Amino acid sequence: MSDAFAVRLPAPRSPRLAANGARAETLNRVCARCHQVLFSGYDPTWEGGSRKRSPGGSHINSGEARDMMLGACASKLACVDCHDPHAHDGTASLQKLEPARADALCTRCHDTYASPDALRAHAHHDPAGEGARCFACHMPRKNMGLDGGLTRYHRIGSPTDAAKVLLDRPVECALCHRDKEVGALVRTMEAWWNKSYDRGALEKLYGALDADVLLATAERGKPHEQAVAFQLLGEGRVKAAVPVLAGQLTHPYPIVRGYAKRALDEIRGAPVAIDVDAADEVIAEQAKRLQ
Ligand code: HEC
Ligand code: HEC
Ligand code: HEC
Ligand code: HEC
Ligand code: HEC
Repeated sequence: MSDAFAVRLPAPRSPRLAANGARAETLNRVCARCHQVLFSGYDPTWEGGSRKRSPGGSHINSGEARDMMLGACASKLACVDCHDPHAHDGTASLQKLEPARADALCTRCHDTYASPDALRAHAHHDPAGEGARCFACHMPRKNMGLDGGLTRYHRIGSPTDAAKVLLDRPVECALCHRDKEVGALVRTMEAWWNKSYDRGALEKLYGALDADVLLATAERGKPHEQAVAFQLLGEGRVKAAVPVLAGQLTHPYPIVRGYAKRALDEIRGAPVAIDVDAADEVIAEQAKRLQ
């Protein structure tokens, strides 16, 4: 592939690495020296896991290498196939890629889905639209990023994976379909990809099958799930979310307070006058004015 971003570095060589052998694994381990967030004391992981017991995926940037190694393509896919590690705007260039070039990062190996007809049959979305991009479903934007927004989850899997649908919020389709009920999204997944999901487990997660996915996640989610919901409710300027967001400005995790504050700024169209670093009583008092 003659893609400017696909810089092929020579694999590092050392007798210590020889046992690891494969190119992708060797390169990914180099990046994993830093991009593996093991310094985080936060216990829950994606796929409903616990960092102490199961190797679930990271919820925040800097876990990319660990996540990629847990994911589907790990034996062949290396960080440098998509990122130029020496470019300062590497991530920005990836965000700007036009659809055909972004998909080519996947279809050079998975060529079954390279044609528009095959992609339509596979993804059930308009092959030219954003809903049909490989990244949209297989590397969903649901991790807390360097810029205080969301970045891509690097454990390559599918939105229909049972562990994601039944143990994680928000169900990944809601990252774009912000106003849909959980029951409707899950029914569509069942019909399109011939799956079946336990309704009881979904009710436990969202409270009800007709729940609004994002509001329910904002109210009931784990902290890393709430951050995603806050961000999307802000982007969607969902006024109905103001009370729940205002109530989260004293969230026990300061980083999650920031997501609530920025969402309120977005909904209001201007920064709200609240200092999330102040004492809880002060924040709670200031937040009353938002209700
Ligand atoms: C010695 C630690 C270290 C290693 C090894 C490392 N990184 Fe990083 N990387 C960082 C840090 C720290 C940042 C955040 C820097 C910043 O905010 O600009 C970062 C940021 C990045 C970014 C985001 C840059 C942007 O501007 O959006 C990418 C992409 C990235 N690294 C990829 C890689 C890849 C690919 C490898 C392996 C070839 C790698 N890194 C190896 C420490 C490391
Ligand atoms: C299949 C392509 C692909 C591969 C392989 C890949 N990434 Fe990424 N990565 C992306 C895309 C696309 C983004 C941009 C996310 C967005 O849209 O904002 C990204 C974003 C990042 C960021 C930025 C995080 C932030 O907060 O903005 C880092 C760091 C990163 N990747 C590191 C890695 C490392 C380390 C590896 C190898 C383990 C890797 N990536 C492998 C596609 C890839
Ligand atoms: C360098 C080759 C390569 C690239 C590039 C690549 N993959 Fe893969 N992928 C693999 C391999 C190898 C497997 C393991 C299964 C197999 O043999 O097909 C795999 C498996 C998968 C699976 C199967 C998951 C499962 O549970 O069965 C999915 C989904 C997937 N890849 C999506 C993607 C997406 C999306 C991209 C781009 C972001 C991508 N891949 C890029 C090599 C690659
Ligand atoms: C709208 C969501 C969506 C989009 C977009 C999408 N996929 Fe998938 N993909 C899925 C789902 C869901 C599954 C799991 C299907 C199943 O379990 O039967 C899957 C499975 C896969 C698999 C593993 C099973 C197989 O068929 O080999 C690969 C590889 C894959 N997708 C690659 C891609 C590539 C490459 C693209 C972009 C050209 C892409 N997908 C775009 C939803 C999507
Ligand atoms: C990256 C954003 C994105 C993701 C992720 C996404 N979609 Fe879509 N979806 C779209 C867009 C854009 C359209 C409209 C055009 C089209 O068909 O692609 C759409 C259309 C639809 C439609 C038909 C029109 C409607 O709104 O009723 C359904 C149903 C649907 N998507 C379900 C899903 C399901 C289920 C998933 C999760 C597996 C999903 N989508 C993931 C963006 C997305």
